[in-house]
Amino acid sequence: MIETGRETISTPMKKNLSEFFKGFSKLNLSQRMSTLIQSGVLTPDEAQYLKSGGLEDLSLGEKFVENVVGYFQLPLGIATNFNIDGDDYFVPMAVEETSIVAAASKTAKWVKESGSLTTQVIGQNIIGQIQFARIKNPEKFKSDILNQKKYLIEIANKEVAHGLVARGGGVQDITVRFIDREDQTLTPGMSPFMAVVHVMLNPVDAMGANIVNQVCEFLKDHLQHLTNEFVTMCILSNLVDTKITRAEILIKNIDPVLAEKIQEASLFAELDPYRAATNNKGVLNGIDPILIATGNDWRAVESGIHAYAAKSGRYRSITQWRKVGENSLHGIFEAPLIVGTVGGVTTLHPTAKIAMKMMGIQSAQQLSRICAAVGLTQNLGALKALTTVGIIEGHMKLHIKNLSLGAGAKEEEIPLLQKRLEEVLQLTKRISLSNAIEALKELRATSRS
Ligand code: MEV
Repeated sequence: MIETGRETISTPMKKNLSEFFKGFSKLNLSQRMSTLIQSGVLTPDEAQYLKSGGLEDLSLGEKFVENVVGYFQLPLGIATNFNIDGDDYFVPMAVEETSIVAAASKTAKWVKESGSLTTQVIGQNIIGQIQFARIKNPEKFKSDILNQKKYLIEIANKEVAHGLVARGGGVQDITVRFIDREDQTLTPGMSPFMAVVHVMLNPVDAMGANIVNQVCEFLKDHLQHLTNEFVTMCILSNLVDTKITRAEILIKNIDPVLAEKIQEASLFAELDPYRAATNNKGVLNGIDPILIATGNDWRAVESGIHAYAAKSGRYRSITQWRKVGENSLHGIFEAPLIVGTVGGVTTLHPTAKIAMKMMGIQSAQQLSRICAAVGLTQNLGALKALTTVGIIEGHMKLHIKNLSLGAGAKEEEIPLLQKRLEEVLQLTKRISLSNAIEALKELRATSRS
């Protein structure tokens, strides 16, 4: 049985896992489980729970969403070799795409052996928005609110966010913005601007969506009363440019030609939105699987990251790589990455709880920093592959098993078919499902004759 209390999450982390990382990708499933148990990352019960397919009882699903008919299972892979801010991590990744876990582990090994991976979170507040679509007088509106700001913060903290205040957070500030309505149908006596009140709240270890929405809705009446204007809507913003997670990689002794190529690939993504979209997708290949494994809201993180990427008015990459000196490479990831470690699925779903425990997560900041670190590492792996061997080689090698299954191969046919497809890949540098179907036909014909 897996316990469901919070206390199971915070076990002390093993800082040095190097001996357990060694050869992990070559192990079979039960050897992998034994290694994770030996490393202290999993208990035998947790390993057994994962091995037996995870959550089956639908009653928990019923608590999360409506009209439940089952669970959708994704593979949970473990990326190895991560050393983030000096601590080693096994990183659980729930994802369907072949090669993400392998590429993350391989690139993390390179970084661990030849450089460093460091992270930080800058800022602490998330943003709630209260819209006043039409107001009469912007100056008066602003001074009415700002004159009472202290009082508004106090009542919001007292009446709604007291739990956060007790943990060192709560509402920290209230600001007023005006947005040009760009509106041809101006109502006489009304300003051409709409007003938006921003409520800045420190959610501590919660993701904060529910609490910031509650604070905004609580303040609605007070603000209407104070300004004699009408609130149109209240909701958090996912563009949390007030709380940014940053990860940095420094690789030393890199081949200068490779460093140059990676810098050029980075410039491409910084300057061209078509490339930026794909670059950022590659970064999210590292981030989303951790968010899913830990029960976090990956849609919120995605929208925040994309909005931040477009903040200058042009969609850009959220990573940047530069050659430094003769033979070093420096990369940065910077974007909002708002996650929670208390409340919601994170603390209720047994698999999410195991994922959190595997990484020894003690705070939302720590989880956010790990996501940024893995995202940047994933990006480095993709750029290295793209500027050297190309993406097909590594990806397709790992994809061959999927193709074999897709072609209808039986378990006992897979090893031979895989071998045959590897030969085709080597020869033609490409491979598809039709190759797999064709090769399977040939294989069966040969075994009959
Ligand atoms: C594929 O899932 C991700 C990449 O396209 C990322 C990139 O192009 O940087 C390889």
